[in-house]
Amino acid sequence: MSERDARDAAGTEPVRRVTDWDADRLRRLAADHDTPLYVQDLGRVRENCERLTDAFPDADVRYAVKAHTGRAVLEAVRATGLDAECASAGELDRALAAGFDGDRLHYTAVNPPARDLDYVVGVAAAEPDLTVTVGAVDTLDRLAERGYDGRVCVRVNPGVGAGHHEKVRTGGAAKFGIPYDRAAEAARAAADRFDVVGVHAHAGSGIDSDQLDSHRELVARMGELARELASPDGDAAPIDIEYVDVGGGFGVPYEPADSPLDLPAVAEATREAVAPLPADATLAIEPGRYVVADAGVLLTRVNTVKPAGDERVVGVDAGMTDLLRPAMYDAYHPIRNLGGDGSDAPAPDDRPATPVTVAGPICETGDVFCRNRALADPMRGDLLAVGIAGAYGYEMANQYNSRPRPAEIALDGDTSTVVRRRETLDDLTTVEREAGADRSARSGVDR
Ligand code: LLP
Repeated sequence: MSERDARDAAGTEPVRRVTDWDADRLRRLAADHDTPLYVQDLGRVRENCERLTDAFPDADVRYAVKAHTGRAVLEAVRATGLDAECASAGELDRALAAGFDGDRLHYTAVNPPARDLDYVVGVAAAEPDLTVTVGAVDTLDRLAERGYDGRVCVRVNPGVGAGHHEKVRTGGAAKFGIPYDRAAEAARAAADRFDVVGVHAHAGSGIDSDQLDSHRELVARMGELARELASPDGDAAPIDIEYVDVGGGFGVPYEPADSPLDLPAVAEATREAVAPLPADATLAIEPGRYVVADAGVLLTRVNTVKPAGDERVVGVDAGMTDLLRPAMYDAYHPIRNLGGDGSDAPAPDDRPATPVTVAGPICETGDVFCRNRALADPMRGDLLAVGIAGAYGYEMANQYNSRPRPAEIALDGDTSTVVRRRETLDDLTTVEREAGADRSARSGVDR
């Protein structure tokens, strides 16, 4: 059975590969809106939300908005009924603007700047059902200093990490959460000052089926902690645990040979490992990548083809400023050659597969999307689609080398909408000009 036929209960594909996208439509979008260009399909975002809620029907599913905070995506996710997990005042602000009510907002504080805490406590005054997830006793003290006495979830470092790269394994990293052996005591102390409603842990990001054992171990430890808090052995007061949040990290298959995560199997393993939950407590999960990754592609145009020793370098107009993951994590993103713009060049399918290094315009050696990978021999003017770019793609884009950030299009059925316009050279200096630090006249050249 082909992957496209292996549809799940909701009738959707387990993954949308870069080869599954409508090539003509992507070519038209690039022609109309120029490159580099992000394209995010809201229909696929909704499907991914439904696949998660189907697999975890009894759990609270909270979208980790850091994966993609665009308004159109947030609204699409909200409409499917998922909650929002926010890592900063900025993310919380975006989630509120997208219409998430307080009882569907979860703010996770990681060494939070004072300005963030001030903002969150201010929001909580109006939205008392919001929950603040806290990973250090200092953060609890700082909340109390601001008069906060509302809902708190205790983030625990379970000592178990997992993920696609050392830099995204949080579970064992001392930076995150209260160490497991101190968590029960910290939660009980917190219950004197706050309404402690849950426990939380996040192992890391990009967990695949081979790392299920770590996931199971983390979940089991969290279940144990929740039971200890809800029904303490000694004379400690019981805590009314509403939920056990085991974080996100559900991986997606970036490489063509990777198989999609068996989500129902992960759900089953999670339910088994956490059981028995304290009475009235639910399981909660926080997927980010899984919701948006395969709903997005980055389109980029080939501007240079250069033989260099044994290598063939294909220069493109997107780089690590548009998609940082390959440079930062050596992450693999699939690349498909969509061919030229009405030129006489042969269709990509008729070209030989040729090993190429696809490199961006940034003056950094690490600014490459792939090395010596076989693509349908790229030519100047070709359009390339970089796949599975919807999570942590636009979100980690930046203006290094004074590169304006790309535009983004949201697809919804047959409609396509510019949801983030392309930045201009003027955007690069806005904050300097507003500070009065840059008063010089500009060239009259189109910017
Ligand atoms: N919950 C918490 C507390 C998190 O810190 C994260 C991700 C998530 C949920 C969602 O994880 P996901 O389901 O998306 O794997 N920039 C990196 C990923 C960093 C993730 C950080 N925390 C990347 O591009 O791979």
